[in-house]
Amino acid sequence: MTRGAFIAGTDTDVGKTRVTLALLRALQGRGVKASGMKPVATGCRSLTARELSMFAGFYAVGDMINDDVAAIAALSPPECERTDINPYCFDWGVSPHIAANRAGVRIEPERIAAAYGRLAMHCDAVVVEGTGGWFAPIGELGTMADVAQRLGLPVVLTVGLRLGCLNHALLSVQAIGVTNLKLAGWIGSVLAPYMPALEENLATLDSMLGVPRLAVLPYSIATDADASHVVAAAAALFDEPASDRGGDLSL
Ligand SMILES: Nc1ncnc2c1ncn2[C@@H]1O[C@H](COP(=O)(O)OP(=O)(O)O)[C@@H](O)[C@H]1O
Ligand SMILES: [Mg+2]
Repeated sequence: MTRGAFIAGTDTDVGKTRVTLALLRALQGRGVKASGMKPVATGCRSLTARELSMFAGFYAVGDMINDDVAAIAALSPPECERTDINPYCFDWGVSPHIAANRAGVRIEPERIAAAYGRLAMHCDAVVVEGTGGWFAPIGELGTMADVAQRLGLPVVLTVGLRLGCLNHALLSVQAIGVTNLKLAGWIGSVLAPYMPALEENLATLDSMLGVPRLAVLPYSIATDADASHVVAAAAALFDEPASDRGGDLSL
C-alpha cells in the first residue's frame, strides 16, 4: 500500500521544501519508489537555458516554473505527471487564495486528492509539501488544513528554528490536534548559521509539543547531507509496520 505524509510548516520559509526533498532522497536511497507533491504553489519565474539540464524532460526553456515544484518534480519518477505533482500553480507569489482569485481559479481539495491518487498508483511513497502555514487560506473560507484533511495523511510539522518558533509550533500543534489527522512528529530546520539557545529551544519543543522529534536539519547552505539527517524519520514515517506485511514474521 502506498504511504504518504503531509509536510506542514510553522510558517512559510521554514524548511518544508528542504524537508520534503530530504525525505524523497532518503526514501529513494533505501530503494523506495517515492514521488513528491506540491498541491498548491504560488510564485513562478521563467526557466533559463542554464537550468534546463536540471529539469530535462519536465520543462523547456522559457517555461514558467515554481522553484519548489521544479525541485520536487526533478526528484520524482518520470511517469508521474507534472500536473499531478502540482495541480495548482499561480504566477503571483502571494497567498494562494489571492493568487487563485486573480487567476479566476477555485482551489478544490477534491481535485488535489484525485491527483494524489494517481501519484499513489505509480509510487510506494508520496511526500506532500503544504503551502505556507497550517491555516494558509486557499479560498474565501478554506485553508490548507482542508487540503490536509481531504488527503487524510499523517502530518509532519516542519519547525523553522528561529526566534518565535515555539509559539508558532505550539499553535500549529493545537490546530492540527483538533482534526482527526495523526501528527506523526516534527522536524526542525535551523534557518540561520547561529541561533541563540538552539539546544534550549529543541528541549522546549521536545517537552511541549507532545509528539516525537523525527529529525533536525542543521544549518547548511549545501543540501547534500540533508537526506542523511532524515533516514530514521523516513523509516518511521514510511516503513510498513510488521502487522501490515502479511504473514507471521516471527515464525
Ligand atoms: N537547515 C537549513 N540550513 C540552511 N538554510 C535553510 C535550512 N532550512 C531552510 N533553509 C533555507 O530557508 C529558505 C526557506 O526554506 P524552504 O525549504 O524553501 O522553506 P518552505 O518550503 O517552508 O517555504 C530557503 O532559502 C532554504 O534554503
Ligand atoms: Mg516550499
